[in-house]
Amino acid sequence: MTDRHNLKLLIESHFPIVVLETHEEQRVVDLIKSLYGKKKRGLQVWTASEGLKNHLLTSTSGLSLKGGGNPHEYGVTQAEPTIDPDTMLDKVKKSIKDSIILLLDFHPYIDDPKTLRLVKEIAQQYYVNGNTLVFISHQITVPEEIERLCVSYHLSVPSQAEIFQIIVDEAKTWNAKNGNQTLKVDKKAVKLLAQNLLGLTTSDAKRFIRNAIYNDDAITHSDVTEVMEAKYKLVAKDSILSFDYDTVNFSNVGGFHALKDWLNKRKHFFLNADGNTQFDIPKGIMLLGVQGCGKSLAAKAVAGVWGIPLMRLDFGAIYDKYIGNTEKNIREALQSAESLSPCVLWVDEIEKGINSGDADSGTSGRVLGTLLTWMAENKSRVFVVATANDIQSLPPELVRKGRMDEIFFVDLPDVDSRKEILSLHIEKRDIRFDKINLDQVAVASEGFSGAELEQVVVSARYASHADGEQLNTEKILEEIRQTKPLSVVMDKHIGQLREWARDRTVSAN
Ligand SMILES: Nc1ncnc2c1ncn2[C@@H]1O[C@H](COP(=O)(O)OP(=O)(O)O)[C@@H](O)[C@H]1O
Ligand SMILES: [Mg+2]
Repeated sequence: MTDRHNLKLLIESHFPIVVLETHEEQRVVDLIKSLYGKKKRGLQVWTASEGLKNHLLTSTSGLSLKGGGNPHEYGVTQAEPTIDPDTMLDKVKKSIKDSIILLLDFHPYIDDPKTLRLVKEIAQQYYVNGNTLVFISHQITVPEEIERLCVSYHLSVPSQAEIFQIIVDEAKTWNAKNGNQTLKVDKKAVKLLAQNLLGLTTSDAKRFIRNAIYNDDAITHSDVTEVMEAKYKLVAKDSILSFDYDTVNFSNVGGFHALKDWLNKRKHFFLNADGNTQFDIPKGIMLLGVQGCGKSLAAKAVAGVWGIPLMRLDFGAIYDKYIGNTEKNIREALQSAESLSPCVLWVDEIEKGINSGDADSGTSGRVLGTLLTWMAENKSRVFVVATANDIQSLPPELVRKGRMDEIFFVDLPDVDSRKEILSLHIEKRDIRFDKINLDQVAVASEGFSGAELEQVVVSARYASHADGEQLNTEKILEEIRQTKPLSVVMDKHIGQLREWARDRTVSAN
């Protein structure tokens, strides 16, 4: 990992203070110990529980002071604990030289005027005494007084290849512990795991992988879902973002040929399978069109075919739950989505969140603005799939060219798609096809949406059952005749939709 290299560079870059914000304290301390543990510079570690300890005099397993060496050389003795921050800093200032001083969880003390002054003085004497202060906390705000003396560093999170290596190492550990048996591993699941653990710190990733291995002594597909759920709980549990388990495959969706093709062409690059950076990362699409024609279903299928988690952003709920905090919550949700990347961010019926009745239009405009700005700047692999039934309420900025990669129009299914959809729903219910003339029923169901076609199959099946028959063409035709599809009721609305969509969208089919 490059952290080792970067940390070394930073510590040696003559900044007197290095600030490391991380949840992985132990990893950083170990890294720095491995860099400087035996080198010419001294290494001291301070905690509020143990005071200042000289690493060169401590065991490798902990921070406790053990014999050996000459404590007075470093001005540290057991008799004089330096738990008090100011006492410790005073000691560093007066009697420690050429050392790296790791201050663990020092953030609560830094704002005290005297403490801050001492920190500043130590930093200012850097060229005389050669001491580097390293603050290691999960979060720390650097006071302005010392800002110019500080350099900050964020630990990198492991790459997919590194996570893959962690999985391999953990599997080997399992093998060794189990008398050299070989862990049962589903290769596809491992690949998905490595993909889905991206964005987590090394220690979290390790913990999740161990759980996945030890819960059933194998790495299987079910681990992928469990790990994703755990990851989601870790980063987004209180947000308006929810984890959706219900991904489907495109084999469950009839029609949508153009969309399927579009996604297939980009899958490889979105997942960055070969590290190619020449292609723009796909950002998102909008599926717009007639109700009941499979927009929501297709959105879920995007996650399914790309093998990535589906995160649902409940746009409508923003206003209900968090009155007053709307924009902050959407920003947090987007941040969580980033840390869950690669993922699909599904915004279903986006128009409802934008024009939510009584919410003031200023707020809803800003919410949309936040989303659009984020989309434009977003460099992570979060693919937005927005759906909409209604064009009337869609603000023009949302559908302007360049916002989304593509706007797909989802029309009523044509005869071939109707055949596919009918066949899918018949097959799904384990019904035999031998008495059904699919071509005939597909032609007869002109103007039916996917949802209505499904309903036809369901009702016809009941009717045949009641008559003691196997589902057949006549029963389906009978249902078709009895249904008044939405397209008839909403003829005018669909006409307007098509008109609007003509030069603004491409067909999803
Ligand atoms: N193209 C399709 N292929 C298969 N099933 C479909 C299709 N379109 C609609 N359906 C069925 O109708 C249901 C409702 O569709 P949905 O995706 O919610 O439509 P929309 O979001 O466009 O209103 C789906 O869950 C599915 O069972
Ligand atoms: Mg829908």
